[in-house]
Amino acid sequence: MAFSPHFLDELRARVGLVSVIGKRVALKRAGRVHKGLCPFHNEKTPSFTVNEEKGFYHCFGCEAHGSVFDFVMETENLSFPEAVERLAAEAGMEVPRDSPEERARSERAKGLYDVLEAAALYFEKQLRMPEGKRALQYLRDRGLTEETIKTYRLGFAPDGRGALKAALTKDGTPDGKLLEAGLVVQPDDDDRPPYDRFRGRVMFPILDGRGRVIAFGGRILDAGPGSNAPKYLNSPETPVFQKGRTLYGLYQAREHARDDPIVIVEGYTDVLALQQAGFRTAVAPLGTALTEDQIRLVWRFSREPILCFDGDNAGERAASRAAERALPILNAGHTLRFAFLPAGEDPDSLIRTRGRDAMGDLLNRAVPLSEVIWRMERAGKPLNDPDDRAWIEKKLKDQAFKIADETVRGHYLSTFKDRLWREMRKSRPATGAGGAKPASKSVQIDEAAGAGAKIDRISLRERILLVVLIAHPEMMDDIGEQLGILDFTSPELDKLRQEVLKTLEQRSDLDFQGLHDHLYQTGFSTLLGGLLSRQVLDHATFARPDVPLDIARRGWDQVLRLYQRDRLLAEIKAVEERLGKEPNGADFRRLVELKKQQQVQETDQLDAGPAETGSGTAA
Ligand code: UTP
Ligand code: MN
Repeated sequence: MAFSPHFLDELRARVGLVSVIGKRVALKRAGRVHKGLCPFHNEKTPSFTVNEEKGFYHCFGCEAHGSVFDFVMETENLSFPEAVERLAAEAGMEVPRDSPEERARSERAKGLYDVLEAAALYFEKQLRMPEGKRALQYLRDRGLTEETIKTYRLGFAPDGRGALKAALTKDGTPDGKLLEAGLVVQPDDDDRPPYDRFRGRVMFPILDGRGRVIAFGGRILDAGPGSNAPKYLNSPETPVFQKGRTLYGLYQAREHARDDPIVIVEGYTDVLALQQAGFRTAVAPLGTALTEDQIRLVWRFSREPILCFDGDNAGERAASRAAERALPILNAGHTLRFAFLPAGEDPDSLIRTRGRDAMGDLLNRAVPLSEVIWRMERAGKPLNDPDDRAWIEKKLKDQAFKIADETVRGHYLSTFKDRLWREMRKSRPATGAGGAKPASKSVQIDEAAGAGAKIDRISLRERILLVVLIAHPEMMDDIGEQLGILDFTSPELDKLRQEVLKTLEQRSDLDFQGLHDHLYQTGFSTLLGGLLSRQVLDHATFARPDVPLDIARRGWDQVLRLYQRDRLLAEIKAVEERLGKEPNGADFRRLVELKKQQQVQETDQLDAGPAETGSGTAA
């Protein structure tokens, strides 16, 4: 809708740029402008300026720039017309409805509000009539208090095709209005008159932001056996009601949103039960999955609303969907938290069976959005092999890249990276002192890879280090030198290592097949067979010839580090054992030296860690 420039100027003048921004940012006068810490990026010294005279703000750090309307749109997540409405309301100005269409629409809507209000009053009244006795009893049996019934204006639609219609027509409302308001239904053959949409149902009026009735939800009192009537029936979309942009209970919840985060649940009755239990910020969508518009709507009142989901699989899927829907629209200062109910419970039943404290605990344990995404991608998947890790890292990155807001995206990326890195360190097979006990999987590898004899982890790693180069001879330039300075503990394998290095030094044209044939002919066929056995390659998947080079390379680097650490630990252990038996200067000095090396290794790994996990997979 177009606002007249005159009106916008007037509004700008009335609200004042410094005073609007000053509500969110601590501003200090500095000459002709005001200065403060930029609300659009993180900073320690102020580069955000507000120029009242010129009517704009500008940040020299992040280039954020705009008018008072831009500021409100950005910080409150509003569209332009919404920002105008919002500021006008604050300034006590009426927004002029200028266009003829707008005037017509607003006239029509006004009529609908009146009709809907009349219907709500009618339903409320019926609840107190003899016809409504059973409905009232039903609400009381569900534990709803008189206060809740009044506050939420619960009502009853009598069972009959024309009760509401008759009452409202008597007041002079034409059928057309009732239809437009969604209160009656036109039968398919147009000859018959419209009839009441809601019959024999407990009525839940749905209010807009100003407390006006815009629609209804109706719960059937008792679905008799074989009845195929839906449990809940909602108003259709009308000029005043858009399902995906409305939340049940928000009108009542918003005034409490300063104290507590808004809690989003699934059903009407859950909102009421929560309210009664003292959780005054409960709201619910209207029988559909939460939309982006609804998330934005809630963010106007709550920086970090809590979404409540069923703890079963369906609930988890719903949570994942909501999380993914929120990612693109996240911004600094607005996010979501997720609370999970015990399977099969809704907040209403939970409060009734386990009390309000159980509900409170559950909300206190709500997890951040990033955690939900993490669990979604991470859940139950192995992290044993470098390419497992690469895959999960990629999935997490893909999710983070859905975030349009650069600052938030950066934080998600680094959080995921750090966390993955920490987990990888944990999930690595044991390396002696303090290490976790070896995962059963690595024991399996040991046995599978051993050509007959059971081999230890150190020689397993030697095999992997070597097999990567055999599978990817083109990596010779990259890793040949590092492999050349190692000395393998297994003499047989060490011979193979030397043969591989020597061959590739002379013949850089060899591919996997060529190298393989050469080694086969030079007497390494048995050893080679064990190395390239499916069992080995299945466990060290990054060593397979068909894996991309960068993944093979990263896997190799990791195994090399683990191998060096293992070797060091093994030697430390041996020296310590000797010293235990017979203290001597040589072993003592060696031990000091080894410990020093160990320290260097540890810091190297810390340094190498996140950087290494960060490379490569984003593309
Ligand atoms: P539930 O089936 O979980 O119902 O639907 P509830 O809210 O717990 O209701 P009670 O406790 O059985 O009375 C959750 C929400 O899904 C929508 C309604 O908005 C309901 O509150 N719904 C459900 C429908 O729109 N139609 C239906 O037939 C059922
Ligand atoms: Mn329920």
